[in-house]
Amino acid sequence: MSDFLFSAVSDVLLGPGTSSQVGDMAAGMGIQRALIVTDPGIIEFGLLDGATENLKQNNISCHIYSDVVADPPESVVMDAVRIAQEFGCDGVIGFGGGSSMDVAKLLAVLIKGKQALADIYGIDQITGGRLPLMQVPTTAGTGSEATMVSIITTGETTKAGVVSRTLLADKIILDASLTIGLPPAITAATGIDAMVHAIEAFTTKSKKNPLSDMLACEALRLMADNIEIAVKQGDNLKARSAMLLGAMLAGQAFANAPVAAVHALAYPLGGNYHIPHGLSNSLVLPHVLRFNASHASELYARLAAIILPDQQLPDDSVATTELLADHFLVLADDLGLPNTLRQMNIEEGDLPMLAGQAVLQQRLLVNNPREVSLEDALAIYSQAF
Ligand SMILES: NC(=O)c1ccc[n+]([C@@H]2O[C@H](COP(=O)([O-])OP(=O)(O)OC[C@H]3O[C@@H](n4cnc5c(N)ncnc54)[C@H](O)[C@@H]3O)[C@@H](O)[C@H]2O)c1
Ligand SMILES: [Fe+2]
Repeated sequence: MSDFLFSAVSDVLLGPGTSSQVGDMAAGMGIQRALIVTDPGIIEFGLLDGATENLKQNNISCHIYSDVVADPPESVVMDAVRIAQEFGCDGVIGFGGGSSMDVAKLLAVLIKGKQALADIYGIDQITGGRLPLMQVPTTAGTGSEATMVSIITTGETTKAGVVSRTLLADKIILDASLTIGLPPAITAATGIDAMVHAIEAFTTKSKKNPLSDMLACEALRLMADNIEIAVKQGDNLKARSAMLLGAMLAGQAFANAPVAAVHALAYPLGGNYHIPHGLSNSLVLPHVLRFNASHASELYARLAAIILPDQQLPDDSVATTELLADHFLVLADDLGLPNTLRQMNIEEGDLPMLAGQAVLQQRLLVNNPREVSLEDALAIYSQAF
């Protein structure tokens, strides 16, 4: 076994309705003036009501910053920091999807005023501490609540990440009742994204370790068993809880054993056509599995046994990988997701441009079990077309 460092958030509270314990948790963290970072949809659906009531019961003053937008740009982060400084908060609560939680992470650092956002992009650039930080996800997908990454949109088609252990929260609350209203298409796409986190963490070439493996396997077991139920019976709390836990475990896995070519090929789809991240992953996943089979089929076969527990799998691991790839094509269809690039109105003539952008994602591609050349990326997109 290689040496490894594994990091995770220390406290996780899971249970339907637990977001109404936000105030109790915040009080335990010594917070007196809490800033909640969220987006307008969360307020509109009344998802914050239990949390704000409980903050009040604990005599904690609270200000809600609700101007987060999907794929948040730098201006949102700066705006949130200014408002948090004016309010004088001493603790931050990210409450929403990955976008809100990512802004909350940076806010907790930048409010200290010691570093500017531009100074902390990249790996381990944060030099100071941060305010107490709690994360309450309302989507089961990104796993951002459990990761040490924050992703910010920096240009028309570009994003940049801040990666630092300082961004790991102090506490996570997993309240599945918050996810009941997530529409089927978002449930499906974000769920597949989380499954890809687990698959890529398990097969990554960098930093793969026994703890991330264990988390990835359990995440896949939970999500494979529950994704269809969560999509088709949105109010099934048991399935919603399993998805939320699965997504967080997958987050812990890929925070310590990073994702690879599926994400590298998915990003250009999001950047150029604004295809949601989970759907972008789903569109390329089966084809990357096939491409990687020559180098990772043994690992994929182990995952196939978890994802398809009732299926008789071939003895040959490459054949099993093919079967797994076929399964994800059928699953996408079954969950109501498109499964070709053509269905997304992408022109075939755009594929070389996409391949060119995908191979720039070396940060991710170095983790892939098989090297991906420009020609390979084009071939994978062509198969996905
Ligand atoms: N930090 C990380 O480790 C990490 C990993 C992957 C992705 N990301 C980032 O996360 C962001 C995407 O996050 P996301 O997919 O969770 O979506 P999101 O936070 O962008 O939210 C998308 C939409 O879903 C709505 N929504 C959220 N919860 C809802 C609920 N329970 N019911 C109804 N509607 C709800 C929101 O109001 C919003 O309109 C991107 O910016 C991406 O780059 C971060
Ligand atoms: Fe992802």
